[in-house]
Amino acid sequence: MQKVLIAGATGSLGRYVVQEFKKHGFWVRVLARDAARLENLSESVDEIFTGEVTNTNSLSGVCKDIDIVFSSIGITKQKDNLTYMDVDYQGNMNLMEEAKKEGISKFIYVSVFNAKKMKNLKGIQAKARFEEGLIKSGLDYSIVYPNGFFSDMLDYLQMAKKGRGYVFGSGEFRINPIHGEDLAEVCVNAANDEEREINVGGPDILTHNNILAIAFDSVGKTTKISKIPIWVKNLIVGILKIFTSVKIYGPIEFFMTVLAIDMVAPTYGKHHLKDFFLENKEA
Ligand SMILES: NC(=O)c1ccc[n+]([C@@H]2O[C@H](COP(=O)([O-])OP(=O)(O)OC[C@H]3O[C@@H](n4cnc5c(N)ncnc54)[C@H](OP(=O)(O)O)[C@@H]3O)[C@@H](O)[C@H]2O)c1
Repeated sequence: MQKVLIAGATGSLGRYVVQEFKKHGFWVRVLARDAARLENLSESVDEIFTGEVTNTNSLSGVCKDIDIVFSSIGITKQKDNLTYMDVDYQGNMNLMEEAKKEGISKFIYVSVFNAKKMKNLKGIQAKARFEEGLIKSGLDYSIVYPNGFFSDMLDYLQMAKKGRGYVFGSGEFRINPIHGEDLAEVCVNAANDEEREINVGGPDILTHNNILAIAFDSVGKTTKISKIPIWVKNLIVGILKIFTSVKIYGPIEFFMTVLAIDMVAPTYGKHHLKDFFLENKEA
């Protein structure tokens, strides 16, 4: 039986990945800094290792007897005082060093679709630096580059509930967001796949206007969309960069950037945004 270590199990993607590895017959160890955040996963988890990727001492032995290491560790919404370089880069490097020590057979890392085109963004720079380290490590690896997650599209549902949606430019930039369950399948398949760079998005390519129309339809309201010129977005990001720290502007800059370019990845999966919005419209 193959043994996997999952880092990031408490996150929106990691939860699906834990269940998917278990479904494929893996023995599952998860790394968590707060085991209480693993609620509802107990049936899929064989062992919990309590540790913190930013503290090397706490990681000793985390990869012992492990075949595959999976990491979706990264800062998405800032909750503490750590930087992207502390977590996305150094935290994952610390984990990778443990993996090397134990001679694991493969490291699977989750980055961001189009990362190579967004190297000016702080969050992406830290990820890219880790990717370089992983590639040079001598370990076998796969890097998954996913498009936006369905869970992040809930902001559109919230706008629809409030009666007005906002898009950048004409709203015709395209994206194919992916459900965590579909993305988890891709990540688990990577364990026994030779592909090293896996770009992936969901099955439906939608404009931001389309996404808002689906959101309004899901809550039974008439679609109302306001269009924000791209220069306003650039101005907001520019001002935030002058007056706030990367902790504040980093995530905002990232989301504003991906909303104002085409993000079309190879399509995969069976989940559709309309169903996801209907399931979550009361949340
Ligand atoms: N969301 C998207 O649309 C999207 C799209 C493409 C790629 N991605 C990338 O995919 C990865 C996973 O995304 P996600 O939505 O699953 O993120 P998430 O829900 O924020 O989960 C992130 C995971 O990283 C851990 N983490 C964060 N800061 C940490 C720290 N200081 N020390 C230890 N662990 C820490 C979290 O642990 P705790 O629970 O303990 O905080 C959690 O398990 C991220 O790198 C993200 O950039 C996301």
